[in-house]
Amino acid sequence: MANLLPMAPKDLVFRVDANPEPLGDAERQAVLDNPVFGTVFTDHMVDICWSEKGGWHRPRVQPYGPIPLDPAASVLHYGQEIFEGMKAYRHADGSIWTFRPDQNALRLQNSARRMALPELPTDYFLQSLRELVAVDGKWVPEAPETSLYLRPFMFAKEAFLGVRPAKKVAFYVIACPVGPYFGGDVAPVSIWLSTQYTRAGKGGTGAAKTGGNYAASLLAQTEASDNGCQQVLFLDSIEGKYLEELGGMNIVLVRNDNTLVTPLSDTILSGITRDSVLALAEDRGYRVERRAVSIDEWREGYESGEIVEAFACGTAATVVPIGQLKGPDFTIGSADAPAGEVTVSLRQELVDIQYGRVEDRHDWMVRLDS
Ligand code: PLP
Ligand code: COI
Repeated sequence: MANLLPMAPKDLVFRVDANPEPLGDAERQAVLDNPVFGTVFTDHMVDICWSEKGGWHRPRVQPYGPIPLDPAASVLHYGQEIFEGMKAYRHADGSIWTFRPDQNALRLQNSARRMALPELPTDYFLQSLRELVAVDGKWVPEAPETSLYLRPFMFAKEAFLGVRPAKKVAFYVIACPVGPYFGGDVAPVSIWLSTQYTRAGKGGTGAAKTGGNYAASLLAQTEASDNGCQQVLFLDSIEGKYLEELGGMNIVLVRNDNTLVTPLSDTILSGITRDSVLALAEDRGYRVERRAVSIDEWREGYESGEIVEAFACGTAATVVPIGQLKGPDFTIGSADAPAGEVTVSLRQELVDIQYGRVEDRHDWMVRLDS
């Protein structure tokens, strides 16, 4: 692929306005001791403006707090918005690292192109993470399997009700300490197969990380919860036959012939966790097939014993075994099925790399605090 990364201007100087009322040490520690995904945010946030005339400008770190927004801001009406999800990990020596941030920068640029938003240069993206960690590094928790979730996002802030790409845009990064996404450790989850709703269509925005895709998944996610499942799995919108992805994760099936199979489609988000786990599997000699996978293939493969494991993967949740798949008229697996061996061991290798416990032979980790 051609190098589409826009270059950053050389004079990137962030102005830092310290929060005059940061959370006290004891209160922060209480949050770090028991982090709940997406609930408590650090003392600061990054804010960079973009305008058609001035390009990217006014990079700032400022106290975390409400964003002034005109009620006519076009994001509120037409949903022109994109985001990323990544984590900062504390290593045993206290240093702070993140995982493949170049890939998040690239994906944000891809999402921006699809949503007619300006592309944020990779250097700006990386520096904004460093700037936030420089002021809020003490918010990166130490306990096993905890991290600081970083949420970069960009939206149309121009006050204008005409339907066209906004001429004024904002980019922010906020952060919150997190533990395991599903609460437990590596407990298998139950997945609901949505046959009524789809998430994305051909030529649509499924491959972009944009808020509307998640809004479109919420009703199906509610249906999943009503059926006792933690997540929803979508099928393709044309034939209603091929696996796409979960509301917030990709899916991988494990066959008994050392093959991992995962959907290939231009309507799903190209997950960095999935790409990484599959690379680790290939290092171990597994074959990886990226191709259309039908729901019948999974059901029949499960019955015949050829498909022995399934897992979901994404930044927030890492790698999660799927114990059970429930549809309106069938169920495979069981909610208390044990986690599969391949799933558990790939997950372990991935998190060991992220927490600096094993060699990072792919050079995926990038230090943020120096
Ligand atoms: N698919 C969707 C819809 C997601 O929201 C995510 C999470 O970001 C993923 C897949 C996995 O992507 P990644 O592994 O890059 O976090
Ligand atoms: C992530 O894994 O980072 C996600 O964005 C998924 C979800 C929390 C929306």
